[in-house]
Amino acid sequence: MAVEHTFSILKPDVTRRNLTGAVNAMIEKAGLRIVAQKRIKMSRAQAEEFYGVHKERPFFGELVEMMTSAPVVVQVLEGENAILKYRDVMGATNPEKADAGTIRKEFALSMGENSAHGSDAPETAKQEIAQFFKPDEIVG
Ligand code: PPS
Repeated sequence: MAVEHTFSILKPDVTRRNLTGAVNAMIEKAGLRIVAQKRIKMSRAQAEEFYGVHKERPFFGELVEMMTSAPVVVQVLEGENAILKYRDVMGATNPEKADAGTIRKEFALSMGENSAHGSDAPETAKQEIAQFFKPDEIVG
């Protein structure tokens, strides 16, 4: 199986509640390696670009507000089948539907404040990583 990179965001509900380490422990326990990481305050322009695909959805404004409301931790995760593996570790978008033992079951508060973002496909992973990291910031 191929070693992949995926892009992750620990969302404002995680940094606000001081849960960064707890979420990272779940990521590492699943066998994913954090090969790049920084804590940033996302600008409105960054959030609007990142979630541009959801521009027409009714929750877009709320999502941008939420993502810029407190620091986030952006990460690159490395591992075999990392994209799908991280989506499994995160659990369903709706925390009420997330399986036991997943990040969202454990920590998410709602559909928006759902603790983590992970890329959904190789092409989006590449684009999302490039929005936040230079190649030399990724140290495998
Ligand atoms: S998915 O996995 O892309 O199909 O999920 P989707 O339901 O399309 O949601 C896409 C992102 O939008 C966020 N979201 C919301 N934010 C605020 N309010 C509401 N009601 C809401 N519904 C969905 C959801 O957390 C997804 O964020 P990311 O960061 O991509 O996981």
